[in-house]
Amino acid sequence: GKVAVLLGGSSAEREVSLMSGKAVLNGLLAAGVDAVAFDPAQRNILELKALKIDRVFIALHGRGGEDGTIQGALEFMSLPYTGSGVLGSALAMDKVRSKHLFKTAQLSTAAYTVVNASEGFDANAIIADFGKVMVKPSHEGSSIGMAQANTAQELTQALTAAFDYDDEVLVEQWITGREFTVAMLGNDALPVIEMKTPRGFYDYEAKYQVNSTEYYCPANMSDAHRAQLQIMAKHAFKLVGASSWGRVDAMQDENGQFYLLEVNTVPGMTEKSLVPMAAKAQGVSFEQLVVRILEQTL
Ligand code: DAL
Ligand code: MG
Repeated sequence: GKVAVLLGGSSAEREVSLMSGKAVLNGLLAAGVDAVAFDPAQRNILELKALKIDRVFIALHGRGGEDGTIQGALEFMSLPYTGSGVLGSALAMDKVRSKHLFKTAQLSTAAYTVVNASEGFDANAIIADFGKVMVKPSHEGSSIGMAQANTAQELTQALTAAFDYDDEVLVEQWITGREFTVAMLGNDALPVIEMKTPRGFYDYEAKYQVNSTEYYCPANMSDAHRAQLQIMAKHAFKLVGASSWGRVDAMQDENGQFYLLEVNTVPGMTEKSLVPMAAKAQGVSFEQLVVRILEQTL
């Protein structure tokens, strides 16, 4: 059957999705799959039926593409699609509700508070409680709208900037340490990757624009730590209702303690992206990876 790769879309991560989608399309074509590219920001997805599309590969990131919206529309159209369903997509895209779940399940995650644009906030009280913090719009990706804050003044600035992206903002206690990610394929955790950046954190520039980011795959860590992190990733993935493929991000502090950051249900598939890197370390080429993701819709 014919496959449509959904790419672009209208979220703040449009540019990243265009890169992911083009790479996915090329991978599918190279593997002999009959595939076309389709940008839901330019055409109504109801046209997929007229194009005689049988299956959809979702390479959209962020709101409208990764948050259950398009998944619900595709369910309604009876079109099989890659990745997580409506609930898993919606929960994983929501950093605040993901944190509530992690906490309830006693999965280790940084201490946090939630700030709503309509309710105001006491920046001094938050800094007094947490010290240095990381500010994150609840429903963004690729570190868009994120900033670190050491002082009440910096926090006010960071929150004001984050409110441009989201009415709901997560403020997490800052974790000093190493940053890791675990790619998920089906129910399996792939080799762990460590990301090292000379920047303050693994931000948008470090992810896509500069060459100073270093990646270690498989990550240099003890077998016990690796197993612990992979089990934690699988648990978090299942907990938010994600399935099929994705990526779970985490940190490790100087005492070796891991902290869950979040689950991504449509992680980047660009040349620099992490899931393809982890797959490669397991002997799975990019072409094989996209075919395996597609096969999970069957
Ligand atoms: N949100 C970006 C695409 C990622 O998680 O890779
Ligand atoms: Mg994310």
